[in-house]
Amino acid sequence: MKRIVVVAAVLAFSAGAVVAQQDQVKQTQAQMKETGKNAGALGAIVKGEKPYDQATVNTALATFEDTAKKLPTLFPESTKGLKPDGDYSASPKIWEDKAGFEQHIASYAKAVADAKGKIKDVDTLKAELGAIGKQCGGCHETFRLKKG
Ligand code: HEC
Repeated sequence: MKRIVVVAAVLAFSAGAVVAQQDQVKQTQAQMKETGKNAGALGAIVKGEKPYDQATVNTALATFEDTAKKLPTLFPESTKGLKPDGDYSASPKIWEDKAGFEQHIASYAKAVADAKGKIKDVDTLKAELGAIGKQCGGCHETFRLKKG
């Protein structure tokens, strides 16, 4: 009898752990979606669809910086191989080539830090968004999988 209780407890515990890992993936995706939304808002200014707005720029830079700080913790080993709902998932390369992944985080963080205080109008935004966008794309190319 005691054994059954222990087994049930272990099962309950591992089920809890899986839920926690899925929550982590959801959080990671929410962080990236927010980052994407802000990049989209800047892209609309660059394309001339929206007027230049310093507050939008500052909010986006703050979000990019927050993402740079969080990236090292967004992909714990425990979430490896999880296939979340949605269009994207994390490539196993994140864990297979940890050094390469960390390198991408560092160069992305540097591009964001370099842009701070430099964006004052559409032209400077275009230049800095280009530099940051290259880093987003560079990481996605290797470390993000598109479904379908
Ligand atoms: C160091 C690597 C890295 C950098 C830098 C990075 N991303 Fe990502 N991004 C990822 C990974 C990995 C995923 C897939 C996460 C998942 O699906 O669990 C992702 C997913 C996304 C998604 C899809 C979210 C969803 O689930 O719909 C968007 C949008 C996105 N990133 C935007 C950006 C933008 C914009 C930047 C730059 C400002 C950026 N990312 C920088 C690694 C990175």
